[in-house]
Amino acid sequence: MADHIDDAASRQRTPSAPEDAFARLNLIGESPAFNAVLRLVRRIASCNATVLIQGETGTGKELVAGALHYLSERRNGPFISINCGAIPDSLFESELFGHARGAFTDAREARAGLIAQARGGTLFLDELEALSPRGQVALLRFLQDHEYRPVGDAQVRSADVRIVGSTNAELAALAARGAYRQDLLFRLSVLPIDLPPLRARGDDAVVLADAFLERLSRQYGRPRKTLTPGAIAFLRAYAWPGNVRELENLMHREFLLTDDPQVNLGHGDPLRQAPAGGGPPPAPPPPRRPGGGGAGGGRARGGARRGAHHRELSRGEGARDRRIRARLRRRGACARQRKREPRRASCRQGTQPARQAHPQVWPVRRRIPRRPLRPRLDLARVSHRGSR
Ligand SMILES: Nc1ncnc2c1ncn2[C@@H]1O[C@H](COP(=O)(O)OP(=O)(O)OP(=O)(O)O)[C@@H](O)[C@H]1O
Ligand SMILES: [Mg+2]
Repeated sequence: MADHIDDAASRQRTPSAPEDAFARLNLIGESPAFNAVLRLVRRIASCNATVLIQGETGTGKELVAGALHYLSERRNGPFISINCGAIPDSLFESELFGHARGAFTDAREARAGLIAQARGGTLFLDELEALSPRGQVALLRFLQDHEYRPVGDAQVRSADVRIVGSTNAELAALAARGAYRQDLLFRLSVLPIDLPPLRARGDDAVVLADAFLERLSRQYGRPRKTLTPGAIAFLRAYAWPGNVRELENLMHREFLLTDDPQVNLGHGDPLRQAPAGGGPPPAPPPPRRPGGGGAGGGRARGGARRGAHHRELSRGEGARDRRIRARLRRRGACARQRKREPRRASCRQGTQPARQAHPQVWPVRRRIPRRPLRPRLDLARVSHRGSR
């Protein structure tokens, strides 16, 4: 199957320890674009300069970071991975640099940070785009001279650590907009590696799919499944927004959820049941809104629609008055009543569903005032009728 190390010379050599470790990473791909990346990885693995791996989600950034580590002299040292988006802003420095005893309320013991733990090895900073301005400053200082001071400690220490970062955002574009520190970007991207998306990797989708099916049959101890010509056409035509991860998961589902010894993909994804004709799986549902979730978001939108409808109803003219009031009464809300009890700002701005935020305010059923909504109009109509 795919050759993980591109040049023929390296294949002929007796595998050395780093080659073994690298092969275990299973970086699969044969396209020229992917082979160019592997060549670069080999070339820069054994130096200590900071590397920035950029690429769309699921393109294999973490695998490449591992390859850089296991091909280097540091392979017997630790490989510490840290997700910059998962660490609360206030804890970033103490996580990274460690802290002295008593540095803050909960610091009963001194604690070594991730930099100290990664000494002699590689520190992989994942999702660098999620780093807060404060985190960016902290990292900037460290990258300058590889020196740091644990929180609450007077002593400056130096660390023998190789930094490899990764991002799936365009950090240069963020920096141009002022949303990311340009000086940090310069320090991070001493050696940039751009991972190509799967759709730009020629036949790699087919090579990878085949390799995943082989791996799955070994993993589950079941017969090997093969790809039909239709499946191969599908793999070549699809755009793979989720890249290798999406392909890997699709093969996993195909392997587990279909009984056919051949992988057909004519029906698209076995879970999503794309329309017949072998089109690509439909786009995933839109991301959930924070705090809303599927149903919650729908409820919030429903609330907004209802609000607009009420306003329209109470604004309307013509044969409405009694009907409008009856409808408003049925819906348990009243424009006049809402004037007396205005909803709080957060609800009005739509930042949270009103029902969840202030259940006592709206749209709880309330007694409806008997007075007509527009008494003057009523009177006018009565006198008009009377004059006929
Ligand atoms: N070239 C490859 N060969 C084999 N497997 C791969 C390859 N590239 C990626 N994968 C697999 O795809 C999945 C995603 O890889 P990885 O986590 O490295 O992607 P990523 O770029 O870090 O994604 P994200 O930005 O979402 O974190 C993993 O299961 C990995 O094993
Ligand atoms: Mg990743």
